[in-house]
Amino acid sequence: MAQVTDRRAEHVTRLVHESSELRALLDGARSAGKRIGFVPTMGALHEGHLALVEHALLSADFIVVSIFVNPLQFGPSEDYSRYPRTLDADVEACRGRGVDIVFAPDRETMYPDGFATAVEVSGVSDVLEGAHRPGHFRGVTTVVAKLFALVGPCTAVFGRKDYQQWKVIERMTRDLGLPVGIIGMHTVREPSGLALSSRNRYLSEAERGRALAIITGLRAADAAFAAGERDAQIIESLARGPIEKAFDRIDYVSVADAESLQPLVGHIASRAVVAVAAKLGTTRLIDNFVLGD
Ligand code: PAJ
Repeated sequence: MAQVTDRRAEHVTRLVHESSELRALLDGARSAGKRIGFVPTMGALHEGHLALVEHALLSADFIVVSIFVNPLQFGPSEDYSRYPRTLDADVEACRGRGVDIVFAPDRETMYPDGFATAVEVSGVSDVLEGAHRPGHFRGVTTVVAKLFALVGPCTAVFGRKDYQQWKVIERMTRDLGLPVGIIGMHTVREPSGLALSSRNRYLSEAERGRALAIITGLRAADAAFAAGERDAQIIESLARGPIEKAFDRIDYVSVADAESLQPLVGHIASRAVVAVAAKLGTTRLIDNFVLGD
């Protein structure tokens, strides 16, 4: 019988801080005929992030994970300063999982003195997260454009947990003709249905229980859609009901077109996503279901 080797075991994980070193290692990998896979993150890695790495390994054989808590995408009253920073544990988590490089640049590398450039995608960025977090997507697209420039031609994997972010980055990549293939990976959940998130660690035990209202709402909306319901308002209120009861604040529960993210009114005739953002205490959670997926 042919011996089955685990491809992940062939990778040695290196921690790189400098962009010049990243470039040199990637040049070497490309010369050796390797295809580059890229997973951008802000660290505090969990199995959701590592599933993106697994997915990247399907079409690439040299994997870069970036870890950078990007100040540009946090609003002034958001959790930038308390965002979990766990670099040592993150590098350990990448070992044996097929990651070749953990790229952890410092702020000066990403935003050198006098940095004055921004990348902004209109339309798909303006609704949902964009409407509630002004400047957020501008920060995301600016940092991701810069990371794409540093990494170069690659396949980049994003999570559909941040569904709108995935769509915004697809748009940016297409509009700018960047040499990057964008893949959207399904959301990894706990057995309870709670979507894995670096922010779940802020939740108390009681809040974790209440957080399940999101999955309850999304499942109710999806079940109704599967049973033939096509009224956007009815689908929305089915999702909203349990969340309204359990959460302290709802930013939005929206039934939106799955490509443009514009809200759908009346009969659902296109592929639709139900997207949710809500707060438990000071912790803000987001999640979504594409109806009928
Ligand atoms: P971060 O929140 O660390 O997420 C990194 C990637 O992991 C994103 O593509 C996100 O959608 C994905 N992800 C997070 N939780 C997931 C889950 N439960 N299942 C599947 N994928 C999941 O998103 C960011 O960082 C930043 O905005 C970034 C793109 C790195 C730019 O700074």
